[in-house]
Order: sequence, then structure tokens, then C-alpha cells
Amino acid sequence: MVGFMKRKIRFGIIGCGVIADFHANAIMELQDEAILVGVTDVVYDAAEKFSKRHGIRVFATLEEMLSSSEIDVVNICTPSGYHAEVVIKAAKAGKHIIVEKPMAITKEQLDSIEDACRDSNIILSSISQNRFSRGVTITRRAIEEGLLGRILCADIYMKYNRTQEYYDSGSWRGTKRVDGGGALMNQGIHGVDLIQYLAGSLKSVYALSKTLVRRIEVEDTLSAVVEYKSGAIGVIQATTSVYPGYPRRLEINGEKGSIALEETSIVRWDIDNSKYEDIVLQPSFISSTATPTALSTAEHRNQISDVIRAIKTKTKPLIDFEEGRKAVDIILAIYKSAEEKRTVFLDD
Ligand SMILES: NC(=O)c1ccc[n+]([C@@H]2O[C@H](COP(=O)([O-])OP(=O)(O)OC[C@H]3O[C@@H](n4cnc5c(N)ncnc54)[C@H](O)[C@@H]3O)[C@@H](O)[C@H]2O)c1
Repeated sequence: MVGFMKRKIRFGIIGCGVIADFHANAIMELQDEAILVGVTDVVYDAAEKFSKRHGIRVFATLEEMLSSSEIDVVNICTPSGYHAEVVIKAAKAGKHIIVEKPMAITKEQLDSIEDACRDSNIILSSISQNRFSRGVTITRRAIEEGLLGRILCADIYMKYNRTQEYYDSGSWRGTKRVDGGGALMNQGIHGVDLIQYLAGSLKSVYALSKTLVRRIEVEDTLSAVVEYKSGAIGVIQATTSVYPGYPRRLEINGEKGSIALEETSIVRWDIDNSKYEDIVLQPSFISSTATPTALSTAEHRNQISDVIRAIKTKTKPLIDFEEGRKAVDIILAIYKSAEEKRTVFLDD
């Protein structure tokens, strides 16, 4: 067999709904080192349409794809509550795994993924594509270099709009059992991941959660006050019920400097004696504020490229299991706080 160093890495997509096209296009853009082989979906017709659109083959069942020697990596794009069972099957079959966010929706599911991947040689990466954007990369570097000084406040404000039609467009959307939650678990997770990636681990959360407008069984509006292990404090806010919806805003303020991002674009850079003279402030040109599919393929492409690098070099991807579960653990703590009306400590 030709080693991974010499040949293209072969991908298969599991679940071909809204996000799957972004994976397919991203893999196609990496054609020098990657090839999209096939797709499978519990709805065969959907897989067939998708396969024609992308010129790839259909695997009739998940088992057929997982037992195929033509596939190295699976991209799991099924509804959130079904990720864990597919991840576990793929890990047992020895496939490398890219799983959409949230990696899983309960602590039990996360633990069973960890068990399935322990002592295996597979690489698992949980999607959080915004980490691979230029704005977030520069912000992280500035914080690591100490340009902001001691961080005092770190906040994420996500005020989006998702219509009732959006929630009605799939039987799993807005359900506790399969979506795992509402505005925070589905859309807000990106911001939760970024704020902990940039500002550090959280110590505690206190949250209020409501379903104000949409006919769904989970929250459409939530605010939490959080404390970081560093002593900094902040706000995590997520709603999908307001009109017209604004781009997500992330603010990090330190003793010596502050940075603000709209989605992944740096819109404020207030650092004394900044050595980054080429920082260009620009509004976010792409935002899924009110349109779920307003996403950039480039960030998925960058994350998939990072997985290819990890496979070839037998090293960790930037977002491995431990990194991927951080945002989910924070969200589960926030839900627990809202339900029990008390401060919840992350280490509990
Ligand atoms: N990273 C992002 O920005 C982003 C954006 C949108 C969605 N997502 C995530 O992607 C996942 C899918 O969301 P979507 O909007 O594409 O959903 P969707 O409902 O449009 O598509 C899901 C597809 O999975 C198929 N499916 C269900 N169970 C399956 C199984 N066991 N095996 C194979 N196929 C199965 C369904 O038939 C459907 O075609 C969710 O976890 C969501 O949170 C991520």
C-alpha cells in the first residue's frame, strides 16, 4: 500500500444535508492532496442526488462505507444527536474522523466517544471552522504575545435570526433529543468555542434561558455571566429570535489593549504601540446572522487541511477530541445553571 505521505487522502461524507456541500466543496478545493470518494445517507435518494452533483459514488449503507478500503477519513454531517453513534462505529472501523459541531450533545455521548477513540490510531477532529480564520488566528497570537496584558473581560454576543420555517425544515431542529439545545448549542457553539480558545478556561457560569418566540422545545434566547479561571469575567449571549439579527460580536479587553471581532473579522484593534501595523479593520462580509448557509468554505477547507497534515505527520489536529469537547462542556454547564437556577462550576 502506498503510504499517506505519497498518495491523496480519501474522504467519504456521511449525511448529505445543508452542511455536507461545504465539506464536499472544501475537499474538492484540496484536490492536490485529497479526493472525495463517496457519500452515504439514510435517505438513499438524497445521497444519489448529492453524488450526481459532486461526481462521486454512493455507498448504500453506513456499514458499506465503513468497511470499504477506499475510504481513509469520514466527514460526519448527520444531525447533532446522531454524531456519537456514527463516530463510535467509524472509530471501530479504523477510519479517521471529522465530525461536525457539536461533536456530541450529552456528557455520556462525549465519554463514549472518548472510550471508542482511546488507544486507537485514528485522528478525530471536531469542526470549529472559525478558529481557522485570519481574524481569530491574529487575535490568538496577539493574546499569546501578551499584547492585551491581563485579560479582564471576554464576551460573546450572538443575536441571530432563525425563522420558524428554519426550525420546521427538519424534524430534528429545535429538539432537545437531537439538536441537544437551541440557540446556544446549535448556533452559539462557535462563539463559545472561540471565547474559551482566546480568553482561556472557564471557572463558572450563571445563566438565564427562555423560549420567547419560536415554537421549539429548547431555548431561543439565553444569557450567561461567566467567570474565567484567570479571574476575568464575561457574558455569553445567544439568541435566534431577534429581528433582523446582527453579526456575532466578540470582545476581549485587557489592561493594555482590546480587540473586537464581528464574526471572524477584526473590527477594533486598540493596543498601545501595536506592532501589527498591517492590521486592516473591516466589517464581516459573510455572516449567518439570518441565513444559515451564509458560511465560507475556506474555513472548513483550512480545518480539513489541518487534519490531512495531522494524518500525514501522525500528530494531533488543532481541534482534537479534548479541544472539541470544551465548548460542549461549557454549554452543558450553562444549561444546567439555567435549569437549576444556580452558579455551576465547570470542574464539578
Ligand atoms: N459548522 C457549521 O457552521 C455548521 C453549519 C450547519 C450545520 N452544522 C452541523 O452539521 C450537522 C448537520 O446539519 P445540517 O443542517 O446539514 O442537517 P440536515 O438535516 O440538513 O442534514 C442531515 C442529513 O443527515 C442524514 N442522516 C441522518 N441520520 C443519518 C445517519 N445515521 N447516517 C447517514 N445519514 C444520516 C439526513 O437524512 C440528512 O440528509 C449538525 O450537527 C449541525 O450542527 C454545522
